[in-house]
Amino acid sequence: MNDDKDQHAFSAVTNWRSDRRRFLQTSLLGGLTGLASSHGLSPFAWATDNANPDAARLAADPNRPQYHFLPAANWMNDPNGTIFHDGLFHMFYQYNPHGGFWGTMHWGHATSRDLLHWQHQPVAMAPSPGGPDKDGVFSGSAGIHNGVPTLIYTGVNPEVQCLATSIDGFKTWQKYPANPIIAGPPKDLTVTGFRDPCVWQEGGVWYMVVGTGFRKIGGAALIYRSSDLRKWEYLHPFCSGTWSGTPAENPVDSGEMWECPDFFELDGKHVFLYSTRGKVFYNVGTYKNHRFAKETEGQLDFGSYYAPKSVLDPRGRRILWGWIPETRPLAEHKAAGWAGSMSLPRVLRVGPDNRLRITPLPELEQLRVKNAGVIEGLCGELTLNLIPAKDAVIELKNEAAPKAYARIQYSAVKQELSCNEFSAPLALEKSEPLQLRLFVDGSVLELFANDRVCITARVYGSKANPLLLSAPQDGRSNLWLGNLQPVSSDRLTS
Ligand code: FRU
Repeated sequence: MNDDKDQHAFSAVTNWRSDRRRFLQTSLLGGLTGLASSHGLSPFAWATDNANPDAARLAADPNRPQYHFLPAANWMNDPNGTIFHDGLFHMFYQYNPHGGFWGTMHWGHATSRDLLHWQHQPVAMAPSPGGPDKDGVFSGSAGIHNGVPTLIYTGVNPEVQCLATSIDGFKTWQKYPANPIIAGPPKDLTVTGFRDPCVWQEGGVWYMVVGTGFRKIGGAALIYRSSDLRKWEYLHPFCSGTWSGTPAENPVDSGEMWECPDFFELDGKHVFLYSTRGKVFYNVGTYKNHRFAKETEGQLDFGSYYAPKSVLDPRGRRILWGWIPETRPLAEHKAAGWAGSMSLPRVLRVGPDNRLRITPLPELEQLRVKNAGVIEGLCGELTLNLIPAKDAVIELKNEAAPKAYARIQYSAVKQELSCNEFSAPLALEKSEPLQLRLFVDGSVLELFANDRVCITARVYGSKANPLLLSAPQDGRSNLWLGNLQPVSSDRLTS
């Protein structure tokens, strides 16, 4: 891991990061946050729909993606409760209905039949005044128990696990009157946090892992067991890691706290994902006696990407979405009235080397308009195979603009791939071509390389339009460059 690079990469987001940091530091112990009031809001204010007073301006904002999912307005972060049920994919997500900044966390909700087009649904959950989630409905997951759609999430302050159910087919959600279902971490553990439950069923029994960690030791996950999703028995630590060794005020910054664990079986192995230090890590390993032992580890994305959540689709594919944070200052996204986007759906596999393979959902090809050799209006895709000579530079740019919109560089010597300000290790086998798939969508750039490296970047206010390709001719093949069809006519997604 490259700390300097990470700090550099995230320096522009210090604003929203420090707001969340301050909040999360106090949320475990139940210290009351000043966050909501510092934004001039009542900490208990909440809204129940996606009302968007400023739709025209948002619809015309060229920074807004056109085929990535995002709310019609306002702030979003982590995907939550991703589930497929009765022919529909449900996407919930951390949402602040009060503007383009983090705070008063709600669960937004959207549905899709094809993973490309999304329909916004009413906000699923808001903080309940006086309840265990009064200061935020934080991240979590979904399950179907005895046919009843159920959400399991973290309430703050302090951090506790809560439950809500729907008896009208995912339309409205009723919080369990006896919340919280887990009132805090095990008494004998002193932990750095206790949030973001991930649940699954095994032989009729429910299991839950919760993100946590230990000071000066490292992040961890705890595992619980239940027969009804309501009464939980703590088993033991599920898996754990090491910290950076550099103390930080917020344990997430030093790897002493893991956020948003996700756990699933894949290709005969088990995979564990967690987010810490501004990055998402994966472990491939074995699951035995309700403990996970990692065999390999890697990074899911080397750019602006965090807190992913997966779903198993009816075809048995493991599909993952992550949150694409802003990299511009808080004042700018607050003024824009929106912040954050969901990444494209990514299909995960385990390769013969026991490492993850990550590819964009194949159905995205249905959005291809024409292989025109140019991208108009920052809504397109570039697919390119190349045998890199030594250093290869691939740019998408407009001749009139001084700076390329996207600058991809592969250094064969350093075995490193970069995309704008981010870089990732990428060792190519002998005679293995560099295989690039770059998605351009407003201010979002998502790069997939050789099924194993992803870099997500942000580019704001680009005047580089139309985008043309500049790349070495030698050893180039399989070129596709053109527009993708927006999934909404007005950049508002549904
Ligand atoms: C990760 C995270 C989670 C938390 C949520 C709050 O981005 O910090 O740990 O539940 O965001 O919005």
